[in-house]
Amino acid sequence: GMPALGADRDLLLAAPRGYCAGVDRAVITVEKALDLYGAPVYVRKQIVHNKHVVQTLERRGAVFVEELDEVPGGATVVFSAHGVSPAVHDQAEERGLKTIDATCPLVTKVHHEARRFDREGYQILLIGHAGHEEVEGTAGEAPEVITLVETVADVEGLSFPDDTKLSWLSQTTLSVDETMAIVDALREKFPQLEDPPSDDICYATQNRQLAVKEISEGADLMIVVGSANSSNSVRLVEVALEAGAKASYRVDDVTEIREEWLEGVDKVGVTSGASVPEDLVEGVLAFLNERGFPTATAVHTAEESLIFALPPELRRDLRAAG
Ligand code: F3S
Repeated sequence: GMPALGADRDLLLAAPRGYCAGVDRAVITVEKALDLYGAPVYVRKQIVHNKHVVQTLERRGAVFVEELDEVPGGATVVFSAHGVSPAVHDQAEERGLKTIDATCPLVTKVHHEARRFDREGYQILLIGHAGHEEVEGTAGEAPEVITLVETVADVEGLSFPDDTKLSWLSQTTLSVDETMAIVDALREKFPQLEDPPSDDICYATQNRQLAVKEISEGADLMIVVGSANSSNSVRLVEVALEAGAKASYRVDDVTEIREEWLEGVDKVGVTSGASVPEDLVEGVLAFLNERGFPTATAVHTAEESLIFALPPELRRDLRAAG
């Protein structure tokens, strides 16, 4: 007989996806700061790289600025999850600003590693993307000894005297596979290269890439919810394609999905970057359901339970306010 409409269709949902512990903490930090101090609360750079999160906080009275000279003296300013260089901390102090540091603790960890390698006389190869805020912040910890490496091809152009102590660090939101390829190339060229004490690519990035791999094999289409400037979201599209998805698109929300992407498509996967609120994913799933795709099946590849305490300077003020 005739197959039922949608009988061969499949909708898989990556798990984990969406908010990581560092994003959750950063967003709550701005919300609590608004409750406690009242609007406006200034935030240097986007608190996390998501358009919708920024718009929602703006409506509540957060004011996003690019640099501290846009913040009036004496005001409160939150530093974003991506971290800032020591120069920005100094500038805030000079300006007499009250600061709340929402840098993800896993980014702070990389800053500590940079300072330690610098103290111990290493040259540091920082794997990451030029111009990304996290890279600017980390590089600012030891600007004299850090060299940015973006690609395997960059490795060829590097040269150091033979007895140079060399180490590497990375941005937290890179492709695991690509980063390992770069490290292999570095090690081949510089056998004395020393590894960082632990992974810099964070648990959330790794888990989201593993989950998207799992559902990409055999998928006709992978939809990744996330903003264009979100490094980890953009990586998810690349990982999906490498893992076998026939097509993959990044969308900020359901309104960016084009009907023609679904033509001849049976198996669809959905995931979201670490800065993406879950309601945006729900909107995408509802859109697919309306077009004959079944209720999504979650494919679990890892459990996450990490939660970070709020920044101590905010906790202190919250306690004082009772
Ligand atoms: Fe932190 Fe990783 Fe999220 S570095 S902000 S836990 S993506």
